[in-house]
Amino acid sequence: MSSVRTNGLSAKPPGGSASRLFHTESFRLAAIYAAIFLASILLFSVLVYYTVDDAFRAEALRTADGNIASIATGFSSNGLREAREVIDQDMAAPNASDFFLLEQGGKKLAGNLPAMAPLAGVVTLRVQRSAVLGRGAFLAPGLYVFAGRDLSVMRRTEESILRTLAWIFGLALILAGLGGTLLSRSFLARMDEITRTCRAIMEGRMTDRIPVHGRRDELDQLALVINQMLDRIAALIENLRQISSDIAHDLRTPLTRLRNRLERAGSEAKTQADYAQALSGALSETDEMLSLFSALLRIAQIESGTRRAGFSAVDLEALLDHVAEIYRPVAEDAGHAFHLEAVAAPPVQGDRELLVQLLANLIENAIHHTPPGAAITLGLACENGKALLYVADRGPGIPADQRQKLFQRFTRLEQSRTTPGHGLGLALVAAIAELHGAAVVVTDNRPGMRVEIRFSG
Ligand SMILES: Nc1ncnc2c1ncn2[C@@H]1O[C@H](COP(=O)(O)OP(=O)(O)OP(=O)(O)O)[C@@H](O)[C@H]1O
Ligand SMILES: [Mg+2]
Repeated sequence: MSSVRTNGLSAKPPGGSASRLFHTESFRLAAIYAAIFLASILLFSVLVYYTVDDAFRAEALRTADGNIASIATGFSSNGLREAREVIDQDMAAPNASDFFLLEQGGKKLAGNLPAMAPLAGVVTLRVQRSAVLGRGAFLAPGLYVFAGRDLSVMRRTEESILRTLAWIFGLALILAGLGGTLLSRSFLARMDEITRTCRAIMEGRMTDRIPVHGRRDELDQLALVINQMLDRIAALIENLRQISSDIAHDLRTPLTRLRNRLERAGSEAKTQADYAQALSGALSETDEMLSLFSALLRIAQIESGTRRAGFSAVDLEALLDHVAEIYRPVAEDAGHAFHLEAVAAPPVQGDRELLVQLLANLIENAIHHTPPGAAITLGLACENGKALLYVADRGPGIPADQRQKLFQRFTRLEQSRTTPGHGLGLALVAAIAELHGAAVVVTDNRPGMRVEIRFSG
């Protein structure tokens, strides 16, 4: 009984713990987020680079245009001397272009650039090691002016921005890796708890349950559902165990009786009539056992909860009419007055046939366990918008301390020793009510017994 079949599936995870870590869903998610984040940083860097570059170039050209305009104004008002003076002043100004040139016929007149071939419009020059961006223009035929900026300042700014972004990129990469590893570690630790618990249960420790951490996350939900499933399975196993011991226990008496009867017939019966009588006795004994069997199996089937799948909306008023139609004559034949009290109530989700069975058991009890003349009432009420079924009688009633145990299998009160029955009727009532999520309440009907079935929705 101690061998455990694992269907060839090893519960041990494949691969080393590091490769396990990288194969977890949480690591995969963290990696995807990190990749998206890093791609955004890259895109951002490219955008920043081009924006800064554009802005810097535009600014250089704007300054050059301003400088050239003031040189041109100086030249047109006071000739070359003034143009030269403006250049000298501009070179000293803090916000001016870095490079100037004024030349005439290939001869430098002013500025800090050597003479060069004149080019009008936007010009990029190489001066020593750096690039200069600026604008060239002719103030008069043969009189050329150039103003421009050193682009190395822009390059340095761009480089420092890119360096900062590269740092952010690197840090984000490290953080993403660390975050992914931590997340996956805790994920794996919790998966291991689930695996451990399942293994313990497979090894026979049926009461073990998966720890719930109270974080209300998906893994907690999973643990809760698995635990509920295990509780349900444990209840079913207990139910099965109970049934088998009930059957073993309660069939022993009728089986012994049957055996004695047959033995007696074998040794004492002489005539055909003796045998016939013994046979009919044995037959009724077996019928009794069969009905006990089917009642037990029916309770077990209802307790397993499988019938819940076939639930539909049940109109309780119509159901009561149907039950009253069947049981009014039975009760009246047995000398009981039968009353029906029904009000409108919301329909309930349920199994119509089982609800009929529930009411039938209660009414049969009221007929069998009360003296003739005791009135029986079948009713439907509505309390706080919820339906409530009841069966009440005017019989001897049930002592308060006995009311709960009546719903256990094979419980019969002392006063009912002489009436036929197995003590299974109320166990079936309890199972059907439980299946419907309804509560069974037994109260004193002063005098008599009143059983209420209170539906919860
Ligand atoms: N209306 C009632 N008035 C008095 N006693 C009752 C009433 N209903 C049930 N009982 C007591 O509760 C016991 C259990 O009832 P239950 O219906 O489970 O079994 P039963 O009627 O004895 O047998 P079965 O229903 O299996 O044929 C009965 O034996 C009886 O002692
Ligand atoms: Mg009964």
